[in-house]
Amino acid sequence: MPLKSKHLLTLQELEADDILQVIDVALAMKRNPQAYSKSLEGKTLAMIFQKPSTRTRVSFEVAMRQLGGYALYLRWDDLQLGRGEAIKDTARVLGRYVDVVMARVLRQTDLDEYAKWSPIPVINGLSDRWHPCQILGDLLTMREVKGFLKGLKLAYVGDGNNVCNSLLIGCSKVGVNISVACAKGYEPLSDAVEWAYRNAEKSGAKVEILNDPEEAVKNADVVYTDVFVSMGFEAEREKRLKDFLPKYQVNCRLMSMAGRGAVFMHCLPARRGEEVTDEVLDSAQSVVLEQAENRLHSQKALLYSMLT
Ligand code: CP
Ligand code: NVA
Repeated sequence: MPLKSKHLLTLQELEADDILQVIDVALAMKRNPQAYSKSLEGKTLAMIFQKPSTRTRVSFEVAMRQLGGYALYLRWDDLQLGRGEAIKDTARVLGRYVDVVMARVLRQTDLDEYAKWSPIPVINGLSDRWHPCQILGDLLTMREVKGFLKGLKLAYVGDGNNVCNSLLIGCSKVGVNISVACAKGYEPLSDAVEWAYRNAEKSGAKVEILNDPEEAVKNADVVYTDVFVSMGFEAEREKRLKDFLPKYQVNCRLMSMAGRGAVFMHCLPARRGEEVTDEVLDSAQSVVLEQAENRLHSQKALLYSMLT
């Protein structure tokens, strides 16, 4: 069934059943990849990057290959965009060559402008505000590891950044309870929090925005963190480390306060010794590699659902 939204810019535009459908298709593709090997034959994805990437770039490129399609890697600065060509002109021109665009941008407002003019679907591959594709892979991982989603509790500890904003949306849509513990001044976007509360009214999820990591991880099935210094925020590095450490580090002590059988999640790349210790990242509780792998399966399912 096609998704109800043309673009994926924040995750809020997908309905809960769209998200659950992407997860189901991803599970089916993971079980039997061969069955889908020609499903995007003749289709092309343009991938525009204004910031570095390992997982997003490789998983999208491989996803298109595995579905029988083709992907183009385009650095923002190598396009005329880098020399000031209008976003609206680029969007309309690329729409004449390819079938779908994925872009990783410094500013969400640029992506919104791109989507406004694009005749073809646009996928957010991370911006300063959101990282929806990450959360599709994360929900797939939680579903695999725990067997279900509704009623689970996820605790997010650290910076209320792009990943945290999209987790608020994804969890609240599908009924995963989410407790966020951020340092003062680093809370998630007010849009993300408001949408999460609104989604929760429908799904029955519980949403909490706190400052205390020990309170947030109580009874959590998943403890999730991300870097304290996201791409584009490097100038604030020293201040951020002072504001987050040691209280917001996920270490064995904090993990021991979570629920029984809790798993550790991180979108990666991690800064070992900052937001998470080696011990936790490399522990048996850590599912970060499953998470990274699931970017591939969930994005195959997303592309398939958008384009067929
Ligand atoms: N998690 C994630 O998006 O990783 P990359 O920055 O390597 O794409
Ligand atoms: N919050 C991080 C996520 C990287 C995948 C960043 O934006 O750099």
